[in-house]
Amino acid sequence: MFKKNFVWGAATASYQIEGGAYEADKGRNVWDVASATQGRIFEGHRGDVGCDHYHRFKEDVRLMKELGLKAYRFSVNWARLLPEGTGKVSEDGKRFYLELLRELKNAGIEPWMTLFHWDYPYALYQKGGWLNAESPKWFEAYAGVCAELFSPYVSHFILINEPQCFVGLGLSSGEHAPFLKLPDAEVMRAAHHVLLGCGLAEKKIRKICGSSVKIGTAQAYWPALPLTEQDVELAREETFACHKNFGSVNYYTDPLLLGHYPEDALAWQRECGFTFPESDMDIIGSKLDFYGLNTYSGDCVTRENGKTVYPQPAPTVPRTDMRWTVRPEALYYGPKFIWERYHLPIVYTENGVALTEWKDLDGKINDDSRIDFLRRYLRALSRAADEMEIDGYFYWSLIDNFEWAEGFSKKFGLIHVDYETGERTPKKSAGFYRHVIETNGEDL
Ligand code: BGC
Repeated sequence: MFKKNFVWGAATASYQIEGGAYEADKGRNVWDVASATQGRIFEGHRGDVGCDHYHRFKEDVRLMKELGLKAYRFSVNWARLLPEGTGKVSEDGKRFYLELLRELKNAGIEPWMTLFHWDYPYALYQKGGWLNAESPKWFEAYAGVCAELFSPYVSHFILINEPQCFVGLGLSSGEHAPFLKLPDAEVMRAAHHVLLGCGLAEKKIRKICGSSVKIGTAQAYWPALPLTEQDVELAREETFACHKNFGSVNYYTDPLLLGHYPEDALAWQRECGFTFPESDMDIIGSKLDFYGLNTYSGDCVTRENGKTVYPQPAPTVPRTDMRWTVRPEALYYGPKFIWERYHLPIVYTENGVALTEWKDLDGKINDDSRIDFLRRYLRALSRAADEMEIDGYFYWSLIDNFEWAEGFSKKFGLIHVDYETGERTPKKSAGFYRHVIETNGEDL
């Protein structure tokens, strides 16, 4: 069962919905540059206009109200607010976010503001981005500006979204902007700067806002899942093993919440020759109020002949349009492992499904599979909520949007967007989600 004041929300991110890429004095970011560069994004799609939320935000807030959302998670486009990444604040950027916050307030929807969801200012990238030793201070200063300007209206700040992706995919595997494939030691340095930035930003926001706001992060979390009931401990171990890549949650949140990197990450850092002053851990260690998780699926693990194996999913296991398996138990075991390791209230800052779908001849989007997905995943989460503190759930995403390297080809929204006309049409699942919210998840 979900607690009484459970936070039911939906999420988006600035680059994925705003458009308005060249409005007023907005600075460019790495995704603006990627959009303008051929060959990186599916069929040359660009986020310049996209859902045009920058011009249509009032309509979008009205749709949120119709959905009955209690909270809305969105991100600030760093270079819209600070065109150079640091220093001068754009009046237009400030006006845009303040107007959005005012609309949300009038609609009775609680704003959860993500400070950084991947659209890194290009001006800072040109100075080395997260590799620059000054980068934690740039982030701290930016967080300070957001706290000063927006904290009177914002209840929750999410410092960063998914370092696993903007570090791992952006700087190591080269799949996301800025498409770098840096040596591991360099990626470790960038990740370390991200963590220093989070530690500084958390302290800065607290100094400005005291206890009036809650602070957390959102982590990309793809837990290992037990194939059989005997595999629970193995799944936990595997979930928290870094396996020499930048995709695990604990590579980032052990330093933030427990004050040290995991043992296997330290061994990997030594092997690569990456070192840092021990005193950095005092800055990184943070008092966060909640643990934000973004989970779409998980991989089943077991032991065979004494070896850890991840068996291929059976052909009967359904897959989404991202080719991700449908694994509702990820929303039970996933939070369980996190709760038992960190003892922090958990919020699902993202969960959702991309489907192959279109507007039918009758003008409706009959996305029954999304309803089924929601039922299955929310039942698992409800079971978790009986055993641990789960405070909220944000469906990803409110509206169809720009899915990074996949362009507009993947549709996660509760609301369909016609990218030619900008027209919004709530899908069948929007009605279902409204019912879930009205009944506090008691009729799944
Ligand atoms: C990201 C979103 C993305 C979603 C679906 C998450 O990794 O935070 O920006 O659209 O997953 O891929």
